[in-house]
Amino acid sequence: MIGKKMEKALNDQINAEFYSAYIYLAMAAYFEEENLPGCASWMRIQVQEETAHAMKIYDFVIERGGRVVLRPIEQPPKDWKSPLAAFEGAYEHEQYITGRINELVDLAIAEKDHAANAFLQWFVNEQVEEETSVDTVVQNLKMAEKAPGAMFMIDRELGQRTFTSPTQEGA
Ligand code: FEO
Repeated sequence: MIGKKMEKALNDQINAEFYSAYIYLAMAAYFEEENLPGCASWMRIQVQEETAHAMKIYDFVIERGGRVVLRPIEQPPKDWKSPLAAFEGAYEHEQYITGRINELVDLAIAEKDHAANAFLQWFVNEQVEEETSVDTVVQNLKMAEKAPGAMFMIDRELGQRTFTSPTQEGA
């Protein structure tokens, strides 16, 4: 049985993961408007990843005999001043999520909830990948700023990304 504090914190994280999906969905819409279908497609896959993260926590709360309580999802930003600014925003957001995951681990330890701690280790590792994949795009876009035409190539490359459920990879 899950403790009340942990249950609330995980419910908050379900909301944060759905908000992540919402931000990336807003970024996908921005990229569609900017005629960058590859960037938009990359963001749509990120939306699927975030939804899978939310559902993984959702299932864990239920499995532990807790109650999932859904709250409103905050409205995400609508516009970014450049594709680089959008991906930089995504990188900052992932760092924020990493901080939240670390706080959840701290709480699991404080509450002596070993099951939650073990469960959250998957997210600790996932956040390393999340930050790296977004940062790689940020670095590429920074280089592209100095090379006209490079944006076209990057957009095409980002459009190659396919969805692999993060919850199926050794979870
Ligand atoms: Fe669910 Fe991008 O962290």
